[in-house]
Amino acid sequence: MTAISPHGGTLVNRLVTGEEREHLLEDAKKLKSVLINGWTISDLDLIGVGAFSPLTGFLNEDDYHSVVKQMRLADGTVWSIPITLSVSEQEAAELSIEERIALVGEQDGIVYGVLEVGSIYKVDQLYEAKQVFKTTDPEHPGVKKLLERSPIYIGGSVQVLHRPRPGRFTEFYYDPAQTRRIFEDKGWDTVVGFQTRNPVHRAHEYIQKSAMEIVDGLFLNPLVGETKSDDVPADVRMQSYLVLLDNYYPQDRTFLGVFPAAMRYAGPREAIFHAMVRKNYGCTHFIVGRDHAGVGDYYGTYEAQEIFSHFTAEELGITPLFFEHSFFCTKCGNMASSKTCPHPAEDHLTLSGTKVRGLLREGICPPPEFTRPEVARVLIEGMSHQVVI
Ligand code: ADX
Repeated sequence: MTAISPHGGTLVNRLVTGEEREHLLEDAKKLKSVLINGWTISDLDLIGVGAFSPLTGFLNEDDYHSVVKQMRLADGTVWSIPITLSVSEQEAAELSIEERIALVGEQDGIVYGVLEVGSIYKVDQLYEAKQVFKTTDPEHPGVKKLLERSPIYIGGSVQVLHRPRPGRFTEFYYDPAQTRRIFEDKGWDTVVGFQTRNPVHRAHEYIQKSAMEIVDGLFLNPLVGETKSDDVPADVRMQSYLVLLDNYYPQDRTFLGVFPAAMRYAGPREAIFHAMVRKNYGCTHFIVGRDHAGVGDYYGTYEAQEIFSHFTAEELGITPLFFEHSFFCTKCGNMASSKTCPHPAEDHLTLSGTKVRGLLREGICPPPEFTRPEVARVLIEGMSHQVVI
């Protein structure tokens, strides 16, 4: 079997180890430094391990404009989300092109990496917001984050010297080179990737299992980086995935590993980004359901599916699997979508995220047709701790 090619053809590796790392760390002491927050540390790490291949660093000016305008890097490669490093005006004023700088954690003072400055540029953040998020509304969580940053960016390739350490669930962190090897060892020729920032409810389970009917394995790849505050915390979600997999999934056809990235809530553009990244992790297929990576009502229900038609199958390289809005139909007595169920909406069990969170907070299990009871119990337990804190 030939594993699927990484995006751009080569799996990037910008991790520096051994003696070279020691030298660079020594060097870094003499370099000017730029402070980076948790979000940027996570981007840096994902560049380092090749999850963001073909990126070898933060976007330079030409790539940035091209990505924002037309969802492609300057060389034409599909890339839909600008991965950028924002610096303060004061930091920027002291930097020059080709200079190497140390990227230092703002909380812990750790040198996470070194960047060779390729460009220093000021951007129009409202234009970026409009292009990437399709709105400039500061209430949109992605736009809000964007507008909080300085509009001065620096681009350039990086070398990663230190990796952020997860607090819990360390055993579910795999780099793309590792997942690729694991899928190969399992003998999976086809692997479907599933992105989620939520507990796996029955609708998620239904679309995952529908996909599993036609591929060799499922890579359940929950995003565990920064999310908005009302999303269920990653450690509670991890526990819920474990009980679900234990009770309802074939062990030899499922694999759980986290995606330690921040959630952008960029809907359609983020769906493309999510797919490219999963290709780098070795997936051949990627699930895109209703309102993928959406928030509020900023995006149409199927916009995140429609955007794939802007690109050819060859340039995407990974096959998107599109699913309609799924629900439990009380007449059919099973999970379905409008493609498979003839009954009217009154027969469908649909609960909003807000309603479900409300029930869980009150210690009430949502109906089993919505959430598996084992999962609901973990969520109730997890959320009750949250309230106590
Ligand atoms: S996301 O922000 O990570 O996309 P979420 O965790 O809710 O959100 O969804 C994970 C995946 O399941 C996405 O592809 C989404 O489109 C899909 N999905 C979620 N709920 C449904 C549903 N009821 N029917 C069909 N697809 C769904």
